[in-house]
Amino acid sequence: MSVSNTEVFAEVRRVTEALANEDVSTFEALEEFRVKYLGTKGLVKGFLEQMRHIPADQRREYGLVVNALKQAAELRYQKAKAKLEAEAEHTRAATLDLTAPGEPIPLGARHPIAITMERIISIFERIGFSVADGPEIEHDWYNFTAMNTPEDHPARDMQDTFYIVGAPGMLLRTHTSNVQARVMTARKPPIRIIAPGRVYRNETISARSHAQFHQVEGLYVDEGVSFADMKQTLFYFAQQMFGATKIRLRPSFFPFTEPSAEMDIWLGTKTEEDRRLTKGTGWLEILGCGMVDPQVLENCGIDSSRYTGFAFGMGIERQALRLFGIPDIRLLFENDVRLLRQFASAL
Ligand code: DAH
Repeated sequence: MSVSNTEVFAEVRRVTEALANEDVSTFEALEEFRVKYLGTKGLVKGFLEQMRHIPADQRREYGLVVNALKQAAELRYQKAKAKLEAEAEHTRAATLDLTAPGEPIPLGARHPIAITMERIISIFERIGFSVADGPEIEHDWYNFTAMNTPEDHPARDMQDTFYIVGAPGMLLRTHTSNVQARVMTARKPPIRIIAPGRVYRNETISARSHAQFHQVEGLYVDEGVSFADMKQTLFYFAQQMFGATKIRLRPSFFPFTEPSAEMDIWLGTKTEEDRRLTKGTGWLEILGCGMVDPQVLENCGIDSSRYTGFAFGMGIERQALRLFGIPDIRLLFENDVRLLRQFASAL
């Protein structure tokens, strides 16, 4: 330290006085001011570092003088900053065009799968069905065994079903029929539910199929439920959903229903689209259905000598493609906003 103590004191005081003359009229100048006085290599810091060269009996006073400088610098800085900010805000307000149109708020859209599911749900809710839910990661028992699917059934094959590695007996559900088993083991009739959800199959992805898709399951169990009840319920659905005037039930097989059927709706062959969808027959296959196999009731602890029921299961994707004229199933899962945006105003 070359300067004498008196010089240091005088220097601090001089700097303190000079500070009032600094230019702080712009944000840039203010920042330079801050760096010069209050920065880590600034004047205040520098003077404080000289403390050790000050004789002990003068340190208190020195401390007070440097502190006065620091406070003066901070005060100047804060005041100038507040002033600059107020000015900037004023300029913004003055140049604000109150007649300019508002910033558009981007509207979200329901996904076509969700829209389709909701339509199906509301149709069934109107006739007393309520929504039930089940897990996508499911135990073999609910997905297959309770549903009367034999150990050697091809659906259980690794080629068709995703099994969870390291969790024996656990799989990704292959259909929403697991919810039937879940609901029937948990509560007793009358049961009237629909269960929408995602299902998984080990399939090659193409324009017509995907390894992940959606289904809606239906189940009605009570005393005296008949095949005629099923037919009328499904006809009502076909009318409401597609405006169909005719349905057709073809005998089929499912392990969990007996008898089983597949339901087609009549679209006709008038339009190109209808001919393509129905492969020229006029009939579009919509769902699988049947009377709940008594063995399934018993597996779930329901007395099959007292109760009967019907069940059905349908895929959502194909219905969504038809409802919205979407040509390729993969478009549904690409999350391209250009597709989704088109549904911003759909129901
Ligand atoms: N679970 C069947 C499937 O994924 C669909 C199905 C058919 C469900 C008949 C049912 C039914 O409840 O009764 O192909």
